[in-house]
Parts: sequence; C-alpha cells; structure tokens
Amino acid sequence: MQYGYFDDEHREYVITNPKTPVKWINYVGTLAFGGIVDHTGGALICKEDPALNRITKYIPQLPSSEFKGGTLYLRFKQGEGYKAFSPFFVPTLDPYDLYECHVGLGYTRIVSEFYGIRTEVTIFVPLGESREIRDIRITNVSDRPLEIDAIPVIEYTHFDALKQFTNADWVPQTVQSKAYCDEDGLLILTQYAFMNKDTRINYFTSNCPISSFESDRSRFLGDNEYGTWANLLSLQQEELSNYEALRGDNIAALLHRLGVIQSSETTRLITQLGQDESIEKALPSINRYRDSEQVDRAFDELAASWDTYLSRLQVETPDANTNSLLNIHNLRQCHTTMNWSRYLSLYQLGLGARGIGFRDSSQDVMGVLVSAPEGGKELIRKLLQVQKRDGSAMHQFNPLTMVANEGHSREVEGAPRYYSDDHLWIVLAVAAYLKETGDLAFLDEVVPYYEKDKEGQPLESGMVLDHLKRAIEFTWSDVGAHGLPLLGFADWNDTVNLRRGAESLFAANLYGKALLEMMELAQHLGDQESVARYTEYYEAMKQRVNEHAWDGEWYVRYFDADGSPIGSHRDIEGQIYANGQSWPVISGFAPPDRAKAALDAVYRRLNTRNGIKLSTPGYDGFDPAKGGVTTYPPGAKENGGIFLHANPWVIIAETMVGNGDRAFEYYSQINPVAKNDTIEEFECEPYVYPQNILGDEHPQFGLARNSWLTGTASWAYQAATQYILGIRPTYEGLLIDPCIPSKWDGFKVIREYREAIYQIEVKNPDRAFEGVKSVKVDGKGITGNVVPVFGDGKAHQVEIIRV
Ligand code: NOJ
Repeated sequence: MQYGYFDDEHREYVITNPKTPVKWINYVGTLAFGGIVDHTGGALICKEDPALNRITKYIPQLPSSEFKGGTLYLRFKQGEGYKAFSPFFVPTLDPYDLYECHVGLGYTRIVSEFYGIRTEVTIFVPLGESREIRDIRITNVSDRPLEIDAIPVIEYTHFDALKQFTNADWVPQTVQSKAYCDEDGLLILTQYAFMNKDTRINYFTSNCPISSFESDRSRFLGDNEYGTWANLLSLQQEELSNYEALRGDNIAALLHRLGVIQSSETTRLITQLGQDESIEKALPSINRYRDSEQVDRAFDELAASWDTYLSRLQVETPDANTNSLLNIHNLRQCHTTMNWSRYLSLYQLGLGARGIGFRDSSQDVMGVLVSAPEGGKELIRKLLQVQKRDGSAMHQFNPLTMVANEGHSREVEGAPRYYSDDHLWIVLAVAAYLKETGDLAFLDEVVPYYEKDKEGQPLESGMVLDHLKRAIEFTWSDVGAHGLPLLGFADWNDTVNLRRGAESLFAANLYGKALLEMMELAQHLGDQESVARYTEYYEAMKQRVNEHAWDGEWYVRYFDADGSPIGSHRDIEGQIYANGQSWPVISGFAPPDRAKAALDAVYRRLNTRNGIKLSTPGYDGFDPAKGGVTTYPPGAKENGGIFLHANPWVIIAETMVGNGDRAFEYYSQINPVAKNDTIEEFECEPYVYPQNILGDEHPQFGLARNSWLTGTASWAYQAATQYILGIRPTYEGLLIDPCIPSKWDGFKVIREYREAIYQIEVKNPDRAFEGVKSVKVDGKGITGNVVPVFGDGKAHQVEIIRV
C-alpha cells in the first residue's frame, strides 16, 4: 500500500490517496507569517507566534475527516437544491475521480476531480508577506456547461490560542467581523478581537465579486449548528445571510457565483487570508494580490528563493534515496526546524509557553549554515539573548516577547531549574557558523544576557565570545562527586530526571566537544592562554570520563546522586544508552579500543531495522526516582524507542572510527524516503524525518510520530554531508575527508563556500571506506585535504582520489 510517490524532478511528493493514516502536512511561509497546511486543505495559520497571534482554528485532535481551519466548497444546482462538496475531499468526503496533493517547497497544490469539475488550488505565502494565497483554478472537464458557485471559507480562532479553549464566554464576546465592499462587488471580510481594535485585523478576501457572505459559524452551518461542515444547510439557500457577527464563532465565507463554465473552460479565483494593522494599511497590497500576474510573480519568486537555498549544496551519489533526501527533503526540513523550532506542528501544538527551544534551535542552526547562513546567525543572536549571566541558559522562549522560562523543570518541586546541556550547544552553533562563513567579527558583537532590571532593561551585555566563555566556565564549576557535570533537571534526554547531585555523561562529552571547538577557535584567534586553559579542562574531563564511566563493554550514561551508575550491565532495565556511546567518540574522549567496543555494543544491543534505539531494555513501570522516561511503555519515545535524533550521532561516531559501511547502513535504515515502501507500518510523511519510531519492544514496532520538528533533520544532514561525504568547513578551508560505503565508486558535490563554488568529485577506485590519496584543485595537486578559501565568486574543480 502506498499513499503517493516522490516526484523529484518537480521537487514534490504527490499524495494520491487522501486517506493517509494520519494527516500529512506541509509548511507555508515562515514564523513571521505562515503555518501548516494539511493534505486535505486544512490550515493552521499564525503571525509571529502561534500561541499569542493565531489566526485560524485548527484542532489537530479532531478526526481526520473533520473541517480544520479552512476549506473550499463548490456547488452546482441539483434538483430543487444544490450539490455542495469540497474539492479537498474533507470535510464532505464525496467520491473523487482524481485526488492529488502536491507537497512542494513552500507550497501545497491540491488537484482533484469531482462531478466533472477539476479543481487545482495552490496554497502559499508570498515571500515576506503576511497573507496566505489560495490560487484556485476550476475547469469544467465534463462535456456540458456547468454553473458553479465557489465558497472558500476559513474559521477564526481568538488570537490567544489557549484562551480559545479555556473560556467560552469571554472569547466569543470579544470578537467581531465587519465587511467592506467596494463598487465592483469585491469584498473584504475583516475580523478582530476588541483589544486589538485599530491595531490588528485579520481579513479574508478574493479577486472576484461575491454575491453574499457569512461571518457567523452558526448561521453558516444552519439549524443551530445541527447542520454540519459536511452538510451545510446554508449552502442549500440561494444566498448567505450577509451577517456581520458582533460576537460568537467567527468565520469568513465568501459566495462567488462563477456563472456558467463551458466544457474545457477554466476560471481562476484567488483568495487572500492576511493580517495587517488596519484595512486602510492593507488595501494597497490586497489590491496588488488581486492581480493574477502578481500572484504568478510571487509564486515564481518563492520558487527562485528555494532554488537559491537548495543550490548551495547538491550531491550526486550512487544512492538515489540519499540524493533525494539531501538535495530536497532534508534541506527543506532543516529550513522548517530553523523557523519553527519545536513550536508548531501537528504534534507540537504551539499553545502555552513552549516557544523556541534553546538547545533545539542551537542544533537546528547547524543544519542551515550552508544554505541560509544569515538566517542561522539571526537565530544565534536571539538564542544568546536568553543565556544567563552565569553562562547557563534559559530553556525556551517566546519569539514575540522574548520572555524565557525554565521548561519542564518548573513543574517539579525542588528540581534544579537548569539543564546541564542547553548552554553548551550554542558553543557548537557559533563555532559552526564561524567555520562556514569566516565571519569572525560576529565574536565581537555585543549581545545582552537574559536578566533584566525593573524597567525590563538587560542588567549586563557581553560580546559573543564572552557568552561562549561563560558557557564553558559554568560547566567547569558545576560538577558532582566524580568531577563530572551535574545533571541539572535533565540533559539532552529531557525525561531522565534524577535527584539533585546526579551527574551526566552526556553533558561531560558534549562539554568535551564544546572544549574542542573553543580550543580550535582560540588557536585560530592566536589566544594561547585560552588554548592552554581549555586544553587543561579537556584533559581533566577526559580523564574523569575514562576513569569512572567505562563499564567493561560500554560507557555508562549517568551517575545517580548516590554515585550508582545508570546504563550499566548491572542494571536490569536501561542497561545501555546510545548517547552514552556515540558522544565519547564525538568528544574524542574514548581511546580507540573503547570507541570501537562501545560502538559495537550499540550495533549488537540497540540496532533494529528501523533505527537505533535510545536505550534498552525499556523501563517497565513508573519509577519516580528516574522520572519521565519511566512514564512510557517499553519501546516508546525515550524509553527504548527509536528516538531518531540520536541516530546521526552514532553515524558520525562510526565515520570517526572509519566504519563507512556501518555508518551508511545506519543512515539508510532511517531514510524516510525509503519508508514509502513500508508506509502502513511507518504512517507518517515519508518526506521528512519523524522524531520517534516505536522500538522493537513495542507491539507497534516501526510506527512513527512527531514528524517534522526534530533535531534529526539538522544532525542527519550534518552526518551525511560532513561525515559520510566528509565535506566539512574549517577555519582554514574546506576539509574533504569522506567515509563512504565501500561499494561506492565515488560521488560528486557542488557546494558554495565563502563566496566560491567548489565542484568536488571524489573517486574511490579501490572501494575504500576512508582516507584520501590525492587532492587536485583546478588541476594542480595540493598538500593535505583542506581546500583553501577562494572567496573569488568563481567555480573551482576539486578532484579527490581515495586510498
Ligand atoms: C525533544 C526535545 O525537543 C529535545 O530538546 C530533547 O533533546 C529530546 N526531546 C530528547 O528528550
């Protein structure tokens, strides 16, 4: 069973059966304005913040057949009344002759045929605009003339998305709709909440005259809402009621009488759902986008911006699924996580205080640095603003208000109010940014720390370099009985929450990696004092890890407050953790024999055909001493599930020990593109990585959830491009150090790097895993495998022959 196919030529995935196991979505626009569009035309749209400025009411928990956020109805005369249906299949569920949902880059196009009517609707947000466009083309594919009415509709939410669900008196009393009609019969239906009067309006409009409208949900559904979205009583009337709702559940429905459409004739209707300060302010741009040529131009500009984004790194490997993923889908997902962090998806509902995650977004940045370095820098700046003066970081923040909080740790009485890893990720992000761009001036930029005075002014600011140094010093002095970093509320694994005094091996190894970055940076800056200092920290931490954490065949993952190891062969549950093994390799702490043994243990104990489990065996039943991880059944999420984010770290570690075959085996087994063939098991979109897949201890082994917003996107991209293909930016130039599967005879990459284009061809005549024999740049041999920075805007040929 398949629900669709990849059309890489058009950079789309095409869904051909609307009854996917769960909704499959796409993103339009950015956090500045945009949201999710599902494959049946429902949309959750917001401006700048899904919690504080949400526009459409989309309730993901409702069954898939339900109306969500918006749709389009078409109708034609039938007997005494009308036949009304949605060309998106949902919510009327009429039998279709054709259904296709083209999931494109920044747009979704739904093409369908019902009752001799072909409808093609392209949904997108023009670059930099605060409006969702629906470009609707209706063609009569029957052999007789058809008189068709088109009724696009959207349902509003209160802008405070959570309030919408917590107060059913106050919310409906505060909202209202107003209609503005010009002499051509073009109508703008506005909606706002009273507290936003004269400052912010939502609007819905089109480029064709309407004959009537509706703004009240009850009237639209009819019969005191015993009419339904699937069977709208109002559409059996000739006209809608033209009611301007002064309270209630606001909707915007516009009835267009398109007239008689001849056989083979097409009519085009363009709707706009937007937000602006006022109708006067919005009018010029509304008028602009009523012009179909402008809409075409905006769509072309959107496509061109994706061309630029994707073109900065394109690969040609012997594996088609890898090419598809790296050239299109993985890159798009990195763009999505950069924008939305873990805030808004079908699974992360954008309500309440979650906002942008410090650790998550620091890692997301690393996935877009080749394709969108400026966007990455912008995000780093924001993140640094919620770092505290002591060097630790707030866990998450609201992107609109920049108000931050300490995440889940607030919910547990007496728990430490910081996470041991958050602040260390930003060191990796900044270092990656500098190596990609060479923009060392960024280190001198002054950015405030989070703490504020009574007037809300920052108490202290510091240069970016100072922020990084404080992050390092925080962990250096925040250690426990073994001299290892204290766990805080948690480390990367949010769900293992141990008593105060517990230590984290993950934090120790992440610290090692952060120290390596600081040593390299200090060396590059010629700051020998810092090189010496960080080397001392590094060696000390390395010694502590190896003295205390080696368990015989692998590394343990934590020490509890009483000094007992967790993740040891002596445990009955949670004996071995994947992150406990990959990170000592990434940090360089593990000596070669231990690195190999630890990674072999991962292969033996944690690998499955659907990916590497985070730990095993799963904890079976709640244990308050361990916290959240034990709330899941064995095999789910962090409790022995395949938590995909951690897989690329094992892949990277395998390349670091030179095991190209195993690295690629791991990479391929989680490639979502390949999941198209086992989709009944996987269920989620095959064009993005999900956050989690149920592990083999669970009866639904292989079932994916929480697609799109996951650190897997950034790390899988880094693992493939920087470690398997081995093309890594350094301060001095582009390092080329592939670790590919032995069966590959080579690959090609075109990559932009510091204003030049590197056309790289790696030849692997001896089918080796790793090692470079010779490097030629523009036909001349160079010493070593770091290709210099050219910065000349030109293309350069790089030829690598492997050992
Ligand atoms: C999802 C969270 O967003 C991320 O920050 C965390 O590292 C993983 N869960 C693992 O717990």
